[in-house]
Amino acid sequence: MKSERIKDLENTYVADTYARYDVALVKGLGARCWDAEGKEYLDFTSGIGVNALGYSDPGWVHAIENQASKIQHTSNLFYTEPCALAAEKMIKLSGMCNMFFCNSGAEANEGAIKTARKYSLLNYGEQYPPDAFDRYEIITLDGSFHGRTIATITATGQDSFHKYFSPFLQGFRYCKANDINSLHETVTEKTCAIMIEFIQGEGGVNDLTQEFVDEIARVCRLKDILLIADEVQTGVARTGEFMAYNHFDVKPDIVTAAKGMGGGLPIGGILFGEKTKNVLGHGDHGSTFGGNPVVCAGADYVLSKIDGDFLSHVRQSGEYFKQRLEAMDGVSGVSGIGLMIGVGLKDKTPAAVVNACLKSGLLLLTAKDKLRLLPPLIISRAEIDEGLDILEKTLKE
Ligand SMILES: Cc1ncc(COP(=O)(O)O)c(C=O)c1O
Repeated sequence: MKSERIKDLENTYVADTYARYDVALVKGLGARCWDAEGKEYLDFTSGIGVNALGYSDPGWVHAIENQASKIQHTSNLFYTEPCALAAEKMIKLSGMCNMFFCNSGAEANEGAIKTARKYSLLNYGEQYPPDAFDRYEIITLDGSFHGRTIATITATGQDSFHKYFSPFLQGFRYCKANDINSLHETVTEKTCAIMIEFIQGEGGVNDLTQEFVDEIARVCRLKDILLIADEVQTGVARTGEFMAYNHFDVKPDIVTAAKGMGGGLPIGGILFGEKTKNVLGHGDHGSTFGGNPVVCAGADYVLSKIDGDFLSHVRQSGEYFKQRLEAMDGVSGVSGIGLMIGVGLKDKTPAAVVNACLKSGLLLLTAKDKLRLLPPLIISRAEIDEGLDILEKTLKE
């Protein structure tokens, strides 16, 4: 089918909730993809941080095809091998205790919120008169993004997401990122959890400082407040460590993951630590498709590739990106860690640069007032140079 036909059909039959790029992609391999007319693109987006191994990695394709031909879905009333193996790898790589599979980042964060509230009720409920239990508040950061469901847009600390959809969920408070005074003002006796992205993705690839993270971790320890790491975008090797919290040397009580974990199929996970591993019991939580064998076979394959060399490739590639970007005319600053990179621009708007690069065959993302680069984790030095040459030329024009 020609691109124009694909676009016409989508514009007619799919609700208009996305400002799409004017491209219909039909195939991809590694860090490259093609539209229906055969135009080639080098991809610095990986489907917003999802295609960790690039497009259609042959081993990943084989894993899911093989699983689909054996058994494609069973429901969570049965055990399956891919679910068991993917969970084992997630837990061994993350150092957490056990996990729950779901289908997306927002769904993982919903489950994390439920877990935090149940933990608080189980541990502190008896100190309150019946119906007066109020230790359920969750603190998130200004500029954060946690998803699109009602609970997770409530958690999201950006007003632009709060238009139209009230009433929101009770029990969320917002703290200024990297502001220790604001943290102390926001934490109260009612706080049961603090949920953070160690690098805010949608909010503009904003880094948290070590000092701020240390203080959050200290306050959480002191008051038995659960630390929830939203690693939906930062997790599963994106930053050059398995999880972004590894850079900060803290141990969260709950971790949420999604995007890159599945390598391209819908998946989410809630990882539980010592305090939270037994909080959810039978009937407390569930998800029809969570832990689906085909999806988990893909995740198991992605996770089987993540070792010291893989992580070091991501770190070194990230350093190289930064080095070249920092030296470019038109760039005002570079943020992020590993292959999650924010690029501040001096004169041009991010949208103008993205559109010009698209015409030249390079796919980029924006995040607030920056360019955002989330290339596949397997990107080569030559591909980085090729894409950055296009970007550099575009910034000069
Ligand atoms: C940090 C973070 N949390 C949650 C989400 C929501 O994930 P999903 O779109 O899979 O629901 C995203 C998506 O971009 C994200 O970046």
